[in-house]
Amino acid sequence: MNKNITIGNIKGVLPSLLREQKYSSIAVLVDENTEKDCLPIVKGSIGDYDVIRIKSGEENKNLTTCQHIWQSLTDNGYDRHALLINLGGGVIGDMGGFCAATYKRGIAFINIPTTLLSMVDASVGGKLGVDFGTFKNHIGLFQIPNHVCIDASFLKTLPHRELRSGFAEVIKHALITKGNDWNDIVTSSFESMEWETVIHKSVAIKSEIVSKDFKESGLRKTLNFGHTIGHAIESYFLSQGIDQKILHGEAVAIGMICELYLSFHKLNFAQSDLDQIATYIVNVYGYVDVPESSFSEIIRLCGQDKKNKENKIQAVLLKSIGTAIVDSEISSEDILQSIQYYSNLNI
Ligand code: GLY
Repeated sequence: MNKNITIGNIKGVLPSLLREQKYSSIAVLVDENTEKDCLPIVKGSIGDYDVIRIKSGEENKNLTTCQHIWQSLTDNGYDRHALLINLGGGVIGDMGGFCAATYKRGIAFINIPTTLLSMVDASVGGKLGVDFGTFKNHIGLFQIPNHVCIDASFLKTLPHRELRSGFAEVIKHALITKGNDWNDIVTSSFESMEWETVIHKSVAIKSEIVSKDFKESGLRKTLNFGHTIGHAIESYFLSQGIDQKILHGEAVAIGMICELYLSFHKLNFAQSDLDQIATYIVNVYGYVDVPESSFSEIIRLCGQDKKNKENKIQAVLLKSIGTAIVDSEISSEDILQSIQYYSNLNI
């Protein structure tokens, strides 16, 4: 495990981290949810600090919000020895990290992820940035936070649906890794997960991958498993209006089933594993009705994926659990068949 990631009681971890360094000032970046539910848990461990407030939601992950953050740091006279603590989910971690890494050419930042998704994914690996127009994470950089403090007790503040969404990345990590991780998951029910143990294992998998391929030239691409078709499904539902929106992990869960179906067809992935994984995922997430009228748009959206090359749609497919093949080319017909396979699971 990366030594700048701590998993455990935040009240034990944070004071000693802050004592180790003499920061000139400390700001805590929050949204309305984390200010209410999470700041009360950590504030006694920080000493003097300023609060920088932003609005929650992906729609606020942009340069206008960054300007507000940079302005607040400037107005408070923060110098290069200051610290920004990012208290929140993926939006806060990615955007707060980006602002810290660029303010006066870089100040220290600590991420305290408060959602399962950000604990096992966004906070690990140093991808920082914001959206730009309709382009997700279009402006940003790679930089590891000074520290990531993960405390599973924050998950109690999270709606059940958000927790389940983050769990899709846990499933993904287990499926792209050799070992017992998938077996441990499939033999446990979602409702009775020991979250601290689950997070430990999942973060260890991601850290190991990132340590071998920080800038995503090969191995790190395996983390995109389920995301080519998953992102397209997520974008399709978002385009249908906010009440149709499905969460990132819910879409990735469908994407994993579709991409495993293609793995079975193209790479001889075992049918028994496909059946077991598809059944488990549908049991946890329920079944999402992907209307037939959406199929062509979903295929078109897969063609927009930023991982594609030379107009070819690329996905991560699995030869077997733990053996991921990156840059696997998939056709429009493949995508269509995989969505039809998912749709027929409900019959
Ligand atoms: N979320 C995928 C990665 O960090 O590479």
